[in-house]
Amino acid sequence: MEINFVKPALPGNGTIVLAIFEERGLGELGQTVDKASGGQLTRAMTAAGFSGKSDETLMIQAPAWFDRVLLIGMGKLDLVKPMVAEAAGGGIYAQLVSAKATSATVIPDTPKDVPAGFNFAADIAMGALLRSYRFDKYRTVQKPGQKPVLTELTIAAVHPNAARSGFNRAKAVAEAVFFTRDLVSEPANILYPESFAERVRERLTGLGVTVEVLGEAKLAKLGMGALLGVGQGSERETQLVVMSYNGAPKVKNKRPVAFVGKGVTFDTGGISLKPGAGMEDMKWDMAGAGAVAGLIAALAGRKAKVNAVGVIALVENMPDGKAQRPGDIVKSMSGQTIEVLNTDAEGRLALADALWYTVDRFKPQAMVDLATLTGAVIIALGSEFAAVFANDDGLANQLLAAGTETGEKLWRLPMVDSYDKQIDTDAADMKNISDGRGAGSAIGAVFLKRFVKDTKWAHLDIAGVAWSKKDSATVPKGATAFGVRLLDRFVADSFEH
Ligand code: BES
Ligand code: MN
Ligand code: ZN
Repeated sequence: MEINFVKPALPGNGTIVLAIFEERGLGELGQTVDKASGGQLTRAMTAAGFSGKSDETLMIQAPAWFDRVLLIGMGKLDLVKPMVAEAAGGGIYAQLVSAKATSATVIPDTPKDVPAGFNFAADIAMGALLRSYRFDKYRTVQKPGQKPVLTELTIAAVHPNAARSGFNRAKAVAEAVFFTRDLVSEPANILYPESFAERVRERLTGLGVTVEVLGEAKLAKLGMGALLGVGQGSERETQLVVMSYNGAPKVKNKRPVAFVGKGVTFDTGGISLKPGAGMEDMKWDMAGAGAVAGLIAALAGRKAKVNAVGVIALVENMPDGKAQRPGDIVKSMSGQTIEVLNTDAEGRLALADALWYTVDRFKPQAMVDLATLTGAVIIALGSEFAAVFANDDGLANQLLAAGTETGEKLWRLPMVDSYDKQIDTDAADMKNISDGRGAGSAIGAVFLKRFVKDTKWAHLDIAGVAWSKKDSATVPKGATAFGVRLLDRFVADSFEH
């Protein structure tokens, strides 16, 4: 889909979209169409009770010289913020696609008293673009009508050049979101540790990021027994990928901000085998790693002024003759030993070594990990919020704020010493599960905490939000890429110089 920006004017034909503010009625251009159609717009608005609330839409067929006019509610003028405009953009895209429009012009039909600088065209464009994502590469036969026919979206803005350059910055982030959605959507026969690493290398080196891929021999030398144990039952070789982006080479504090991702390309549970029903979902058990790769792509793509590293642990959790068993004891890179009482609590094992490696090598000023770590977080928060655990209140608050701004929302859960005691064991330094069933997500968090030293660190458990079963305004169902926009904003707000 091509997106262009022009000055506000009515086109001579086709489809137009009028963005209307709540209780403000039609703007100047809307009134022109209304008059030319003998009042068709205002009659339709009255009949449908359309007042411009933020989720209202109204399609009017063939008024005046247009094929159709779509009215889209923007909500109250004084409450409009980027996220509202983005959601409107997503809604516009979905409506135009189901109306089978091939092109359309969106006109923010602003009332006369709106300040001239008021400009949300770029946000509408970003929302439409984000909604347009599809993962259909494996569908070899699609009936006509199953594929969107919308190819061109023109958006009117008082300052089209400003809108265009704003959108170009946002587009780098949208492309990174799509990269993540692609990775997360791929099935596990196509995307396994080596092919994942290869895709990251290809994409990110093209953006000027340094990418290192460590294979099993190197990981063994480093002593990563916890990560390697997870991959022991798989035919696929475990990989650790390190992405370094230096967007602020001249700053005094060279310590980067670090992001670490769980990349279990398929999680059968291992010898602690998962039940068959729903196991196919475990192809997206690499969503944390996918988000980290996308985040680094976003930062590099928009030339963020920050030094950042991404570290992803890529491994497949399979049961076979060589697989690790419940009760096995492994030694992590940190030297701490772990009794693996459940091979399905594998994410924390993989992350233990990835976190330690990151802290040890980069001494980051802050570190955030993302992981589809526990089913328990879905019980606690559903798909509304991801959980954040943090050993630093300032860091937690920065993340919470970025979540509110981007709509990738976080809720903080407690991480206290009494949880930590529950993973002590007689046989080793710790065990990878607790005895009871309570607070499963916090147990995962305190386990990870033992591998971050005193680094300012936060853990995001994204198991409930990485994949969506229904469309939302800017996120079509499927892989959400949760974390990319959130952490891109977090970096912009808190770490860019
Ligand atoms: N990948 C799963 C967590 C998960 C479950 C993600 C459902 C997305 C949807 C993780 O590796 C796992 O199996 N966790 C166990 C931990 C338990 C054994 C302590 C779980 O949540 O059951
Ligand atoms: Mn598991
Ligand atoms: Zn898992």
